Amino acid sequence: MFKRHRRLRGSQVMRDMVKDLYLDVKDFVYPLFIEEGTGIRQEIQSMPGQYRLSIDMLKPELDEIWDLGIRSILIFGIPLEKDPMGKEAYNDLGIVQEAVRFIKKSYPKMLVITDVCMCEYTSHGHCGILSGPHVLNDETLYYLSKIAVSHAKAGADMVAPSDMMDGRILAMRKALDNEGFINTPIMSYSVKYASSFYGPFRDAADSSPSFGDRKTYQMDFRSTKEALREAEADLDEGADILIVKPALSYLDVVKRLYRRYDVPIAVYNVSAEYSMVKAAAQNGWIDEKGIVMEKMYAFKRAGASIIITYHSKDIARWLKNKE
Ligand code: PBG
Ligand code: ZN
Repeated sequence: MFKRHRRLRGSQVMRDMVKDLYLDVKDFVYPLFIEEGTGIRQEIQSMPGQYRLSIDMLKPELDEIWDLGIRSILIFGIPLEKDPMGKEAYNDLGIVQEAVRFIKKSYPKMLVITDVCMCEYTSHGHCGILSGPHVLNDETLYYLSKIAVSHAKAGADMVAPSDMMDGRILAMRKALDNEGFINTPIMSYSVKYASSFYGPFRDAADSSPSFGDRKTYQMDFRSTKEALREAEADLDEGADILIVKPALSYLDVVKRLYRRYDVPIAVYNVSAEYSMVKAAAQNGWIDEKGIVMEKMYAFKRAGASIIITYHSKDIARWLKNKE
């Protein structure tokens, strides 16, 4: 005798009943690029539908996000001035700090997460302080901690370090605690691969390294076990949420972390993953909604509870109109 699997697929109602994965607009985090200056609302060429916005142009965007039911955003700053030490990153009046203040004033209940890194602020575009061509690990921790504290002071609800220095979670946790931010969670980009999938983001945030690459600090995708070591270390140091990045090509890693650790896992559905869908959709080659939703369920199936994605607004609309 064979099993009749098709019995449970016979109607929409039956399929809806037996499904075991759910998507909620509250699962999504929407990344925003905020640029120093005024009157800026510039579409990012390689990321159709995504914009660089100045703070004075932010209100309508926030209204739209809020009305769609999205309650979490991830902030990236694009400063006017860059220097070797990334000074603008820990300037209390810097672009991210001012943006956070503005957002929390307009929407106090919006969960504002800030990306903590130096690459958008350093003239050389690397994620830390340099000595010759080398990114210095321990010296960089001091600056990253300063950035995290200044974001928290501005009102950030959570910080998300994406630099990939060793020991950064411990350093940031101590610095935050010392300043009284004991309840500010750290969502760590724990498992972050050196990836070609960040290409469009680097155009968007103007953060490409001026020489070399990030392979001495971001992970090598040819290794399977390193992910566990990175996650373990971050949890030991005090990370509250783990991010796997990029998302689509790394769902095996998400599943491994999901099985092993009892903490929330986020996936970062990165820029090129988004741009490829948009490009194909604009050409009429794919069904955009179908493709995007299938991916979102794949993230859930792998074990992610939080999804950081540039598709968030589209998804919120689709969820509203009942997929
Ligand atoms: C900064 C940072 C990057 C991304 C998030 N934070 C770029 C990088 O590491 O080069 C990538 C996000 C994306 O591609 O959407 N370190
Ligand atoms: Zn960086």
